[in-house]
Amino acid sequence: MPLLVSTTTTSTAHSPRSLARIVKTASSRASLSSTCSSPPLTRRPQYSRHAPQPPSPELSKLLAKYASKTPLRPLNLQTLLSFGRPLTPESILASVNYALSEIPRRLATRVRYLEALPFIVGTNPYVANTLDAYRESFRWVATHPPVTNLGENARFVEQLADLVQSHTNDIPTMAKGFQECSRYMSPTQISNFLDGTIRNRISVRLIAEQHIALSQALENQDPDTSHIGIINTRCSPKAMIQMCGSYVSELCEATLGASPSIIIDGYRDATFPYVPVHLEYILTEILKNAFRATVDHHLKHHPSSLRSLPPVILTLSPPTTMREAADQLRFFSLRIRDQGGGVSPTNMARIFSYAFTTAGRGAEEGLDDGGGGGPYAAQYVGGSAAVGSGGSGEANMFGEITGKGLQTGLGTIAGLGYGLPMSQLYAKYFGGSLDLMSLEGWGTDVFLKLRCLDEAEDHSG
Ligand SMILES: Nc1ncnc2c1ncn2[C@@H]1O[C@H](COP(=O)(O)OP(=O)(O)O)[C@@H](O)[C@H]1O
Ligand SMILES: [Mg+2]
Repeated sequence: MPLLVSTTTTSTAHSPRSLARIVKTASSRASLSSTCSSPPLTRRPQYSRHAPQPPSPELSKLLAKYASKTPLRPLNLQTLLSFGRPLTPESILASVNYALSEIPRRLATRVRYLEALPFIVGTNPYVANTLDAYRESFRWVATHPPVTNLGENARFVEQLADLVQSHTNDIPTMAKGFQECSRYMSPTQISNFLDGTIRNRISVRLIAEQHIALSQALENQDPDTSHIGIINTRCSPKAMIQMCGSYVSELCEATLGASPSIIIDGYRDATFPYVPVHLEYILTEILKNAFRATVDHHLKHHPSSLRSLPPVILTLSPPTTMREAADQLRFFSLRIRDQGGGVSPTNMARIFSYAFTTAGRGAEEGLDDGGGGGPYAAQYVGGSAAVGSGGSGEANMFGEITGKGLQTGLGTIAGLGYGLPMSQLYAKYFGGSLDLMSLEGWGTDVFLKLRCLDEAEDHSG
């Protein structure tokens, strides 16, 4: 029997994980700040361009030291897991050493990417601010003294959580910067830059958050055996769908005046080892697209029957083992099916490009002008309200990447055109995939395949 999920009530199906107290403190600040103060995205910027500042000689030397240690060693998931198996004071000190050596190398690479952008792009205030923030974070980690005991680790973790927090709005900020600079770089250049930057960012956050979560688990003597730091060995897609569905439903209702229900069928009891915040990000973005398409399509064709929208159907399969080269790999797959009219053939080739959207310019203009706009302007209200109301600890911890999507600062159901490309990047990060098939005039199927992370290694840097 398929499970019908009422998406109109607030779901608590996904119980918030117990994460670092310090992270929670930082997260509550996060929710507030992302709700109340994301000025770069909501106002027309008041600025004048100026040449980007070169780094100080001291910072240049440090950058040269860390950036020269390339190519980056791939992020080794086995290593991240090993610090929690078993979790001991010694493993925490090994974990902090790993963080202190790996994070600066990756931040140095990111600073270099940003410095290598065309000069005119570097003068854009959004891009310039992002570069400054990365230089500062890099300087802090690269010059941090060794951590030799748990007391020092507690202080380090607190500051690391603040650092992670301070980068919450990086991607929306950069998105805005590239939007303004689109005439100076080709779409392929922008896309390559963003792919590299976002992958690098995922790695940095994984390392930082894993260390923070493990430190907290040790401090709390957390008996929970289903989590190894931020990896949930029994991640439940059904619970995650219920949680994300509830949020997206509220957002859709607030924006478009109606929302479809969700049906979960197939192997509903499936669980698999994964990073829940990554799954949350992907599901939120795909559901937003499916909900919006369903409402828009039916509004167009049956304007008087909005209350009988066709449901969005999520079909879960049991995790299966597949042979890839010499390896036997396990994957969990699911399909998200909507009857939202599908994607037109002319748009099909572009939907995975950054910044491609059919949400219309009304939203952007509406936001920039502080009101009015097209139907998507209203999304601001729904999204902000939902973000302010919290969510799971994990969602808050990862800020904009989950927190109800990339557009946390905006709280929109659509409009930046980053949902599909970023979801695909997340799915591929550990070797999975995300594909979209359209039955034009009828609906869309999204196929998501995610690697089971108990034995997986990532090789994306
Ligand atoms: N389920 C869907 N049904 C119809 N069109 C879709 C669907 N998912 C994505 N699209 C199309 O792909 C575009 C890009 O999606 P996305 O990257 O999530 O950006 P955004 O949602 O901000 O527009 C959408 O604007 C829409 O035109
Ligand atoms: Mg979208």
